[in-house]
Amino acid sequence: MKFFIDTANLAQIQEANELGILDGVTTNPSLMAKEGIKGHDAVMNHYKTICEIVDGDISAEVISTTFNEMIEEGKKLADIHPNIVVKVPMIKDGVKAIKWFTDNGIKTNCTLVFSAGQAILAAKAGATYVSPFIGRIDDANWDGVELIAQIAHIYSVQGFKTEILAASIRSALHIVKCAEAGADVCTCPLDSILGLLKHPLTDIGLAKFLEDAKKTLG
Ligand code: G3P
Repeated sequence: MKFFIDTANLAQIQEANELGILDGVTTNPSLMAKEGIKGHDAVMNHYKTICEIVDGDISAEVISTTFNEMIEEGKKLADIHPNIVVKVPMIKDGVKAIKWFTDNGIKTNCTLVFSAGQAILAAKAGATYVSPFIGRIDDANWDGVELIAQIAHIYSVQGFKTEILAASIRSALHIVKCAEAGADVCTCPLDSILGLLKHPLTDIGLAKFLEDAKKTLG
């Protein structure tokens, strides 16, 4: 399973990258706004900087909602760097745009996916990634991890090549459950990635080893 970090915060991207386990980055307009990035050029430069930090797929989201506009916007995003993946919302024109990008050799991430039916459409259009938002599904009293398992089953039975990118991850446990359910990628906040490190027995065991090491070293 690949690990992406879900942020536009450069310090956090750098920190995750230095761990050596990072395979890519996802962003969205809300995450860009959170970093105070303002204006078209600033947004494009920010994507470029992220591409320079991380050697992996970097999702950059279109903010237009009609086919022609999405194509124009997506082409400009894809021109920033070969690792850019154009993130397209799961709407009718979005499906058409994903098909166009696929036919023209541009990688896509179909975002705002909340059902298996939407995941089938994304795969049929040839999306590189499909992003089910599991935390938001949990928020609505459904089971986000169950959706990952359902999509993984459908893609396996049908032989779809689209990778399942579990998004809207809220905890380390979400990552473990998504890995179990068959996600190809988890895109996570830094805290959830670092949360995987934590176990009290590791801390207790290490403290004891270090204490005993003092004895052997005198
Ligand atoms: O990748 C999608 C993600 O950014 C949404 O997360 O926490 O806003 O539901 P969240």
